[in-house]
Amino acid sequence: MNQFIFILGKNPILSLAELIAYLEVRCEFRIVENMNEFCIIETHQLPVNILMKNLGGMLKIGCVLASEDLEKYVQENCMELFKNVPDKSFFSISCFSNDADFITDELKRQGIESRCKLNMTHTDIVKNRILENSIELLLCKAGDRIYLGKTLYVHNPFEFKKRDIGRPEQRSMYSIPPRLCRIMINLSGIKNGILLDPFCGTGSILQEAAMMGFDVRGLDTDRKCIEACIKNLKWIKKEYRIKIDSVGDKIKHGDARKISTFFNEQAGLIVTEPDLGPALKRNPKFREAERILKNLSSLYETSLKEMTNVLKPDGKIVMVTPCFETESGQIGIDMKILAEKTGLHIIDPLEKYKIAHNFPFLDYEERHRTIRQINVMELRRK
Ligand SMILES: C[S@@+](CC[C@H](N)C(=O)[O-])C[C@H]1O[C@@H](n2cnc3c(N)ncnc32)[C@H](O)[C@@H]1O
Repeated sequence: MNQFIFILGKNPILSLAELIAYLEVRCEFRIVENMNEFCIIETHQLPVNILMKNLGGMLKIGCVLASEDLEKYVQENCMELFKNVPDKSFFSISCFSNDADFITDELKRQGIESRCKLNMTHTDIVKNRILENSIELLLCKAGDRIYLGKTLYVHNPFEFKKRDIGRPEQRSMYSIPPRLCRIMINLSGIKNGILLDPFCGTGSILQEAAMMGFDVRGLDTDRKCIEACIKNLKWIKKEYRIKIDSVGDKIKHGDARKISTFFNEQAGLIVTEPDLGPALKRNPKFREAERILKNLSSLYETSLKEMTNVLKPDGKIVMVTPCFETESGQIGIDMKILAEKTGLHIIDPLEKYKIAHNFPFLDYEERHRTIRQINVMELRRK
């Protein structure tokens, strides 16, 4: 068994839920530690590079080198750690609540004149090519135990940015970030097959899904969005050399409340962000938020009902609904009631792990007043 350190992204609990849902359908594992910024997982060898590529919410993945008597470990192994490092003049240590002096002191004692930069972000690690030219060590304190690890892979924000703002067609105010698209796909625990987005917009979710090997389908009532989505998918196909057949036939102009009239196939996975109401410049008053949600609820109910008509019996739906911060607290759609009405059941991927967390999952974006609530659903067993 090996232990791996996962440095969680800006929404740690959502990143942890994503990781667990992803691993659950791929390998046996045990959560060894679960702290706010990181978790440690024990499993057999993981294809860490694929994991890093596929996850949306992970910043760094490392392997645990030692978790007992770290000073002795560093004394005995620092030459080995630096042996094949091309540029020994500079390395990085990221510390999660403890002191790295014992490592730098030991290096000096052993004659390794290396400048240490503390707590480099994943962006700086990529920019400075730290993993290609040098190393990053991780020090992670969990209760009485400190884990020493070595970073294996980091999230590449430039690749995600390219697919977000470097694609041919954009609608930045309405688009869902690639990071969140991946998180939503992975929360389902579905690995492949047909993925449908019935409110596809410019195709952000479909782009990420196609890159992960799903056979994508989309629907939108806005013809301009359909054209944009097709253009974006063709760009992804060329840019990343992935296989997407007959893009034009798979993305259709139509209403999500009548999905089954446009698609006669069954989807294993539906991942979608419907209309979330008007773009707000400030937090709404409670009454205003209530009105927005009321106006949207019939669209959600009818389209969810339709989604169940094209969903495989063991399929999943991952859908964003809006939530607002008001003077009287947060208000959102009661998804338990909506799921009940539409023959669905809400899933919490963390439920069986007894991890304290707020549920449903919320995701905040600074530039938006609308908070995204992420709902994972399956058909209710009869
Ligand atoms: C929040 S946007 C989706 C954005 C998309 N995830 C993206 O990243 O581009 C919602 C989309 O739903 C579409 N829409 C609204 N009502 C619809 C309906 N009844 N059926 C299908 N699409 C609809 C809108 O045209 C809009 O493109």
